[in-house]
Amino acid sequence: MWWTFCIIWSLYVSMCHCLQRPSSEPLMHGEVQSPQYPQPYPPNLQEQWDLSVPEGYQIRLTFTHLDIEASPGCYHDALIVLYDGKVVGRFCGSENSADGHHPGHEPIISPDNRFTLIFQSDKNNPERHQNVGFSAQYQAIDVDECSAPDPGDGSGPLCDQICLNTLGSYLCSCHHGYELRSDQRTCLLSCGGGIFDEPEGHLFSPGYPNPPPYAVSCQYIISVESGFTVSLNFSDLFYIESVDTDEGPSCLHHWLEVTIPDKEPMKLCGTKSPGLIDTNSNTVKLDYHTDDEGMSNGWSLDYSTHRVRCPIPDKVAKGRVTPMLTEYFYRDYIFVRCNQGYKLMMDGHEIESFSTMCQHNGQWHLTLPECHIIDCGEPEPLLNGGVTFISGVDNQYLSVVQYHCDEPFYYLLGGLNVSFICEADRQWRSNQDPLLRPTCLPVCGRPTKHLSSFQRIIGGDEAPEHTIPWQVLLNIDGGRGGGMVIADRWIMTAAHNVKTHEGIIASNDTVRIYMGLNDVKALSVLPVYPASVHVHPEYNNPNHANYNNDIALLKLQEPITFQASIMPLCLPAESDTYVPDTMGLVSGFGVTDEGKRRILANKLKYVQLPLVEDETCQNSVTSLKRKRASIPILTSNMFCAGIPEGGKDSCQGDSGSGYVLYDNGRFWAAGIVSWGVECGKQGTYGVYTRVANYLDWIKKTMQEN
Ligand SMILES: *[C@@H]1O[C@H](CO)[C@@H](O)[C@H](O)[C@H]1NC(C)=O
Ligand SMILES: *[C@@H]1O[C@H](CO)[C@@H](O)[C@H](O)[C@H]1NC(C)=O
Ligand SMILES: *[C@@H]1O[C@H](CO)[C@@H](O)[C@H](O)[C@H]1NC(C)=O
Repeated sequence: MWWTFCIIWSLYVSMCHCLQRPSSEPLMHGEVQSPQYPQPYPPNLQEQWDLSVPEGYQIRLTFTHLDIEASPGCYHDALIVLYDGKVVGRFCGSENSADGHHPGHEPIISPDNRFTLIFQSDKNNPERHQNVGFSAQYQAIDVDECSAPDPGDGSGPLCDQICLNTLGSYLCSCHHGYELRSDQRTCLLSCGGGIFDEPEGHLFSPGYPNPPPYAVSCQYIISVESGFTVSLNFSDLFYIESVDTDEGPSCLHHWLEVTIPDKEPMKLCGTKSPGLIDTNSNTVKLDYHTDDEGMSNGWSLDYSTHRVRCPIPDKVAKGRVTPMLTEYFYRDYIFVRCNQGYKLMMDGHEIESFSTMCQHNGQWHLTLPECHIIDCGEPEPLLNGGVTFISGVDNQYLSVVQYHCDEPFYYLLGGLNVSFICEADRQWRSNQDPLLRPTCLPVCGRPTKHLSSFQRIIGGDEAPEHTIPWQVLLNIDGGRGGGMVIADRWIMTAAHNVKTHEGIIASNDTVRIYMGLNDVKALSVLPVYPASVHVHPEYNNPNHANYNNDIALLKLQEPITFQASIMPLCLPAESDTYVPDTMGLVSGFGVTDEGKRRILANKLKYVQLPLVEDETCQNSVTSLKRKRASIPILTSNMFCAGIPEGGKDSCQGDSGSGYVLYDNGRFWAAGIVSWGVECGKQGTYGVYTRVANYLDWIKKTMQEN
C-alpha cells in the first residue's frame, strides 16, 4: 500500500524516504524463536535478527529455552549474539548438557539499545537430530546514565552539577544562583539579568561581592513606562578591573557598559563607585563583561524611577498660570487665565479656555497662549442722539463713553451724566444701572417758542410757528379734524373723527395726517397715513347724542423725529388736576367766527379758555336740553371750558385737537375737543374729553401695538 503512495509522492517531491522508513518504532519488548520452533530446526540455516529498543534503553535478552546441537566451541550449529559487530556470546547445547555452551537463565544485557542474533545450522545431520532450536524474550531496560563513571577523557562528568535520571534519558540541572548553559550540561553562575520593568529594583553582578569564578557576560535592561526616568544609585563597594595603559586606566578586559538611548555608551571600571546616575531616560541597558582572568568583585545598584519633568512655564503677560509650582512633572496640568478685561489668544484666534499637559517627553503639549485686551466694539449709535469718547482707546476695556441726545427735543434716560464703560463682558455698561441701555426720550410739552402773551385774546389768534408743535391736522375722507402728538408714533384725537355714526372706523388710507404746520395753504409737508386706528371700545354714538369715550389713537407707520415744528404733548401725570378757572389753551384749524361769518381757518389758531366747574357746565347743558332734547348728555368723562359771555370757543373742524394746561413748566393734554352746541354762544361751553380718565387705556393701547 505505501509503495503506491510513495510512487505517487515521488512524482512531486524530489526525495522519498520510503526505503529508509522503518516499518515501525522500536518495540519495548519482543520474542525471537528459531525457525519451526518448537519443531526441530532444518539444516543449512543462516538466519539473522536485528533487535532494537528505543534510544536511552538497553536490551535485556533472556533465553526461555535453548536446545541446539552441541559441538565444541559451538562450531557447527550455534546462536551467536553480537553487539556492534563483536561477538558477545556463541551458544549451543542444552541445559545441563556437558558439552556445548548454554547461556543458562541469566539475562544478557546490551551496552545500548541494539543486539544482533544469528542462528546457523550445517547441512550434515547423520543422526537426524531432534534439537528444537531456541526461544528468547527481550525487553528494554532503562539506563541510569547518571551513575555512569566519569569517562576520564577530559570531557568532564555527564552533568556539571546535578544529574537526574529519567526513563530512557537524563537531565542536568544547576545549583541555586547558577544557570544551565546551552550545552545542557555545564552550569554558569547566574547573571540575574533580563528585563526589569518595576518602578524600582536592586541589581548586582553575579556572585557579588565575590568575583565570579569565570568569565561572565550579563545583560540587564531596565525599561519602565514612558514619562518616567530611571536613576541608578551604585553602592559604594564597586570594583571592576581596570588596566593601566599609556592613555590612563582603561576598561580593557572587564567592564560595565551603561547604554542610554541617544547617548554615547559609557564603560565603567575601577574601584570608585559611580554613585548616582540620572539617565533621564525610561530605558537603560547594562552589559557586564569579565574574562577568565583578573578579579572583579563586581557592583550593585538600586534603581528608582521619577516622573519626567517639564520646564517651568513662562509668565503670561496680563494673565496667570495656575497652579504655580516649583516643579512640573509628567501628567501635570497647567491652566492659563487672563486678567479681567483680557482674552485668551492662540495662533491669532480667541480661545475660551486653555490647559496643557506635561507630556512623557518632558515637553508641554501646547505652547502658552497670550492675553490680549478685549474691546467692546463701536458703541451702539443712539437714535436721536450721539456718543462721545471720554477716555480710552479703540473701544478697549475700561474705555468710557458718554451719550447725549438731540436737545431740546430729547433727553437721555438716566440723566445727562450717565457714562458707559467697556466692561470685562465686552458690553458697554452704565456706571449707574448695569442694565440701562442708552435711550433718548422725547421731551414733551415744551415748545421752543412761547406764545408772546398768555392773556385773553378775543376770538383767538394766529399761532406763530413752533409755539404749538403738537398740533396735528387731520383730513379724513375730506373732512377736517385735529389731533395732538403724544409720542413718536402716536397721535391722539377724538373718536368721532375716525368712527362714523354708523359705527364704521375710517380705514388707514383715508386718514391723512399733517404735522408741523401752522398754515394750511403752505402744505409743504406730505401727509402720513396711520398704521392702525384705535377707537375707544366703548365709544358708541349712533345719533350724535352720546359723545362718551370720545377718544381715539392713531399709530404711525414710522416714528417721528422731533424738531422745533413737531414735538409731543405730555400725557396727564398723577399730580395733574383739573382746577376750575385755570386757563387752558385750545388750538386748531377749525371754524372761527368773524363777525357773522363762519370760515375755516387756514392758519393755526389758538385761544385761551378757563376750565369750567362741572356743576356750571352741567347746569348749562341741562337747561339747553330742556329746549332741545337731542343735545348730548354730559358724563364724568367730559369737562367744559369757555367763558359765560361767549365769543371764544373751539368749533367744528377743531374736533380732536387738544385742550392743554400748563403746569410745572410744560403743557399737558387735559382734554380733546369733543362737542359743543353753538360755537362761542353766550351761556354755552365747549365740551372736552377728560383725557386723565383714559390714561390706562392710552398706555395699554400704546404698549400692545
Ligand atoms: C544612594 O544609595 C545610598 C545607600 O546606598 C543612599 O544613602 C543614598 O541616599 C542613595 N541616593 C539616592 C539619591 O537615592
Ligand atoms: C454732571 O456732570 C457735570 C460736569 O461733568 C457736573 O457739573 C454735574 O454736577 C453732574 N451732575 C450730576 C447730577 O451728577
Ligand atoms: C390698516 O388698518 C388695518 C385695520 O385697522 C390694519 O390691520 C392694518 O395693519 C393697517 N395698516 C396698513 C399699513 O394697512
